[in-house]
Amino acid sequence: MKKLLALLLTAVMVAGLFTACAKEEATGTTTDTATTDSATTADDTATTDSASTDDGKIVIGFSQIGAESGWRTAETDSVIAAADADPNIELIFSDAQQKQENQIKAIRNFIAQEVDVIALAPVVESGWETVLGEAKEAGIPVVLLDRGIVTEDESLYVTFMGSDFIVEGELAAQYIIDKFGEDAEVNIVELQGTVGASAATDRMTGFASAIAGLSGYEIIKSQTGDFTRSKGKEVMEAFLKSDGEMIDVVYAHNDDMALGAIQAIEEYGLVPGVDIIIVSIDGVVGAFEAIADGKMNCTVECTPLLGPGLMEVAQTLVDGGTVERWIKSNDRVFADEAAVEELPNRVY
Ligand code: AHR
Repeated sequence: MKKLLALLLTAVMVAGLFTACAKEEATGTTTDTATTDSATTADDTATTDSASTDDGKIVIGFSQIGAESGWRTAETDSVIAAADADPNIELIFSDAQQKQENQIKAIRNFIAQEVDVIALAPVVESGWETVLGEAKEAGIPVVLLDRGIVTEDESLYVTFMGSDFIVEGELAAQYIIDKFGEDAEVNIVELQGTVGASAATDRMTGFASAIAGLSGYEIIKSQTGDFTRSKGKEVMEAFLKSDGEMIDVVYAHNDDMALGAIQAIEEYGLVPGVDIIIVSIDGVVGAFEAIADGKMNCTVECTPLLGPGLMEVAQTLVDGGTVERWIKSNDRVFADEAAVEELPNRVY
């Protein structure tokens, strides 16, 4: 029995030492779930480590969706860089690998670690009441980053930082309407983002409402490509197989799917950007390059550079201040020549 106890004690000490070393390696950022099964690792962290710092640092637990797109990676980089640049901040980063259950586990771990602020990029809109209720109960403010949630209890988060996805959908539609004219007959295929994500739902709504009064405009096919390049290509291949020459426009909910669609169109033997007009959302550098190459037509910007703002918000909240309910990003539309001119200025 004594031997068993001694063994257990040693195991706990080694685990504690390992966690402490991992924390020191990064300059203010701890990655607890980057590559492995986040659920398991996140659970381990909660029981072996407490994030509260004695040095007065603000500890932010950030539950990120994953790394499905260039945009997502740029957002992760922005948050980590801003935390690393601020000596007053310690960031605990958790990658949910596209699973809501992993995000819920990560949030519970942040609560157990007594972080000062929780930042959540929610993979889907619904199903957050219980866990965010637990964060509220623990007195930890929650900041929604880039995607929103649907809840009747507005007190579950203090602010939403990000873009207006409905407006983005409207702007994408407006580009097409300006290009073809209101009286044209236009067959559109839509590559949707992740089902249940606010970015997908709202971009669909905004686009549909903008073309609603135009009788010649029809969305002939609409399917999820999950915000990834590979699925965007796969779904576009299926659209081309069934509707080929009928398609006038691809409306993709993000640039990665549009870039996948471009590949599919080329392989099919049509000219993307010419035979089929391509409009999407995000404003990643790859989209600007595709526009410069004449293979794409328009991208609606949606900035992922939310890191510095998040650090400011965290500081304000810890200081007992108040923040706006929606800290809205200022985004622009880049099409054709204007996009080519902008290309050298892009930072993500
Ligand atoms: O929530 C923002 C969206 O999520 C971006 O448009 C997309 O690229 C990302 O995956």
